[in-house]
Amino acid sequence: MDKNVMLGIDVGGTGIKGALVDIKKGVFVSDKVKYKTPKESDPKAVLEVFKKMIKDLDWEGKPFGCGFPSIIKNNVCCSAANIDKRWIGVKLGELFKKELGVKATFGNDADLAALAEMRFGKGKGKMGKLLLVTLGTGIGSGMFMDQKLIPNVEVGHLHYKKSIVEHYASNKAREDKDLSWEDWGKELNKVLEYIEFILNPDLIFLGGGVSKKFKNYKEYLTLDTKVIPAELLNNAGIIGAALLAHEAG
Ligand code: BGC
Repeated sequence: MDKNVMLGIDVGGTGIKGALVDIKKGVFVSDKVKYKTPKESDPKAVLEVFKKMIKDLDWEGKPFGCGFPSIIKNNVCCSAANIDKRWIGVKLGELFKKELGVKATFGNDADLAALAEMRFGKGKGKMGKLLLVTLGTGIGSGMFMDQKLIPNVEVGHLHYKKSIVEHYASNKAREDKDLSWEDWGKELNKVLEYIEFILNPDLIFLGGGVSKKFKNYKEYLTLDTKVIPAELLNNAGIIGAALLAHEAG
């Protein structure tokens, strides 16, 4: 096994993606494998997807890293907004050791996407308080202070209007409500202004698939803090997961 290659898996509310990553270069050295997140996304069903993916990538019996759409503390899943509630309280490391016989290291998906962006993307070498906001099924956030992660910052769950921020400004909200780029962009701007007021970051990166379409809504983002699209787009979660596992040893 090449010690610079690690499997990274990114579990989202919609899809589960994985690839082998060269952790020195931050690039994929295999195809990207993608499965739909099972409708009933309980541990048993999601484990089956992991098994398939590990087989597809010929990675049986080896350690891997995984970004999960939840608060993760010491490899324990502590919340479940866009995944089955039965994950809450699951000791992820123990479960995967028992079921697959391998060491699996978990982190919050947005924290890991931010980690990848800091290592290989536009955050490389940047000091200060940097915030990556991922816009997908939910809204995730990864905050770095002078290149050090402050884990489990959950801006998507700030109270907003009748519920929480992610129900108005995630990419899923845009699609579900069939919002124009202008309407969604203005909503996103309000949400980012709210986040700006609470956290005061020096720079905001936008991640998730919709960051590829930044030019469609850029003009509506009029907040004071500079906002830029992340460079690694939707591969960041996989790369960050591989980095986490590699660093966990
Ligand atoms: C979860 C976060 C996660 C984000 C993106 C939110 O609903 O609470 O932990 O990072 O979705 O998946």
